[in-house]
Amino acid sequence: MTRRRHPVFCAIDTPDLANAKALADIAAAAGFGIKLGKEFFAANGPQGVRDVREPGTPLFLDVKFHDIPNTVAGAIRSAAVLAPTFITIHAAGGPAMLRAAAAAAAEFGQVRPKLLGVTVLTSLDAGDLAATGVTGSVEQQVLRLARLAVDCGLDGLICAPQEIMPLRAAFGPKVQLVVPGIRPAGSKADDQKRVMTPREALEAGADWLVIGRPINAAPDPAKAVAAIAAEIAA
Ligand code: C5P
Repeated sequence: MTRRRHPVFCAIDTPDLANAKALADIAAAAGFGIKLGKEFFAANGPQGVRDVREPGTPLFLDVKFHDIPNTVAGAIRSAAVLAPTFITIHAAGGPAMLRAAAAAAAEFGQVRPKLLGVTVLTSLDAGDLAATGVTGSVEQQVLRLARLAVDCGLDGLICAPQEIMPLRAAFGPKVQLVVPGIRPAGSKADDQKRVMTPREALEAGADWLVIGRPINAAPDPAKAVAAIAAEIAA
């Protein structure tokens, strides 16, 4: 049976392999991809990724690389062996790092991972940026880093829901916009400040959604996944 795929990554934010596997199976059964980040990766490594991922399930490795160009290029090559759909890197790493990463990904040809730039973490405000020597607004810095990432050959950007429309307007249809901060109608916002529902975000122009706690903290994750799939398909 071919499953209908949905443009959703379920965020699996746990170091526990068994929990991660249970959640990944629920996501895969519903046609969702899985997002594994530093918390999982530091505990379980590449073998853990192989253990939890069903063959054919889209994989988003949210490892946010940021280092000298040679090291990031090597990290991309190592991670690409896992055949992820997406890998994240910090756009603040600068042009040489971004170009080296794009070139390393390109070595994998047809099966190359797509690289997503992280601009300004949503945990940072203008005061935090000023403390690192960056003056101006968060919005200006997001656009500056997004432009740099795209100009250096990255495939897309991680963005907050309210950034979808301005980034789409600035960069056109080719740039992949992958969006966390998604809350199905009726669910809690948690610590996400500006949320959209899955439908709103897709209608605004998101290519992929990232959804964590509405699934992994739900009393019945399988039911939560089914409700999200139904909302998107409606
Ligand atoms: O639980 P929730 O749906 O808020 O999870 C969203 C996921 O996206 C988490 O893995 C979180 O680390 C990630 N993320 C985010 N905001 C960003 C970047 C990543 O929430 N700006």
